[in-house]
Amino acid sequence: MKLTILGGGGFRVPLVHGALLADQGEGRITEVVLHDVDTGRLAVMENVLAQQAAGHDAPPRVTATTSLTAALEGADFVFSAIRVGGLAGRVADEQVALSCGVLGQETTGPGGVAYGLRTVPVAIEIAERMADVAPSAWCINFTNPAGMVTQAMQQVLGDRVVGICDSPVGLGRRAAAALGADPAASGISYVGLNHLGWLRRLDVDGADRLPELIGDPDALLRTEEGRLFGPAWIQDLGAIPNEYLYYYYFTREAIASIRGSARTRGEFLLDQQQAFYAAARQQPGAAYAGWVRARREREETYLAEARAEGEARAEEDLAGGYEGVALALMRAIAQDAPASLILNVRNGSTVPGLPADAVVEVPCLVDSAGPRPVGVPDLTGAELGLAQQVKAVDEVAIAAARSGSARLATKALALHPLVDSVTTARVLLEGYRARIPELARILSDRTV
Ligand code: G6P
Ligand code: MN
Repeated sequence: MKLTILGGGGFRVPLVHGALLADQGEGRITEVVLHDVDTGRLAVMENVLAQQAAGHDAPPRVTATTSLTAALEGADFVFSAIRVGGLAGRVADEQVALSCGVLGQETTGPGGVAYGLRTVPVAIEIAERMADVAPSAWCINFTNPAGMVTQAMQQVLGDRVVGICDSPVGLGRRAAAALGADPAASGISYVGLNHLGWLRRLDVDGADRLPELIGDPDALLRTEEGRLFGPAWIQDLGAIPNEYLYYYYFTREAIASIRGSARTRGEFLLDQQQAFYAAARQQPGAAYAGWVRARREREETYLAEARAEGEARAEEDLAGGYEGVALALMRAIAQDAPASLILNVRNGSTVPGLPADAVVEVPCLVDSAGPRPVGVPDLTGAELGLAQQVKAVDEVAIAAARSGSARLATKALALHPLVDSVTTARVLLEGYRARIPELARILSDRTV
């Protein structure tokens, strides 16, 4: 089994590799090809993975290449986690928005639109190359904004592209643990879009225990989401929102907190990551130990703008988890061993009120035929309305990126619920064009 990792020089690659090392099952991944456009980062990651594999039985063979075609040929699975424009792009996504007084964040709000605009053309190119050289491979997309990017890739590859995220599984794990239930044995019923969904049921031993959790402020406060949204708001919603909904429900607080911090998340990561890659080059022998340290620091400071000052994350929340979702998905497909996972898939008729070709984040049963939505709760009222609006933004942004139309790019920004004026959308696009060459390059018309 061959796994190709696009963005193979990226910081989170050892998480995926670590999951593969722990998998001694039949039909496991035996070959990993790292692909990246940056040879320096590729070399660092090859070294980190070699150190990580030390002492493990039968680790997968790891090679690296900058040729996309060579990387994709013969792949059974393609894992995509690229960052078009790098962390400098992420910083610009944040800063341009903040300078307009609106939310500056990686995937949510105008920053997510700007990130999507420059990423979709690259994702389409990858999908087209996959269609050419690896037509039967499955693509697991972690590239953000994952809902939008998965949807764009599906326009080329159909259902062979599946989007993943660690936030729904993290929410389910925290909710189950707060009830003292075994997260692995709990059924999580969740519905929405990527970074915009709600936990609606939590089945433990055949019974839905979410009402009990929602009714118990102390239990809720044991979860990150409980502290983020407050028990009263969760009770009023009757569901537990994904942590990213903080940016919608507490927009002012989020903007104030980000503006009040010394550095944005992107600025922090730009410094931290540069230091990690530089140190790994200078002291190759200590590269894996350096990665472990940097990774822990990254997790400890995740979503800091939404937490009270000095509030530490729980130890089990530092585990992340998207690599577990990726591995479970590959296993279920390759072994035809059914697994229940929350994934980003084509809607079809799953969520009435959202377009059939919209990518939604819902519980799925996965086997060798791929994921199939199962047991998806209803999405209605205000939650459906918000999802419809944000999905419309995704659609317009994909059309803008594919046609190179600045008019459509402005429209996508203007329609976003976190952009408060069409004028702001125009200023935002001008700012993004000026700051992000990868975005400027894809837009052909000057008129906004
Ligand atoms: C979670 C989300 C990802 C997002 C990441 C940001 O894992 O699911 O979609 O990219 O957080 O974390 P970072 O450490 O880059 O701020
Ligand atoms: Mn995510």
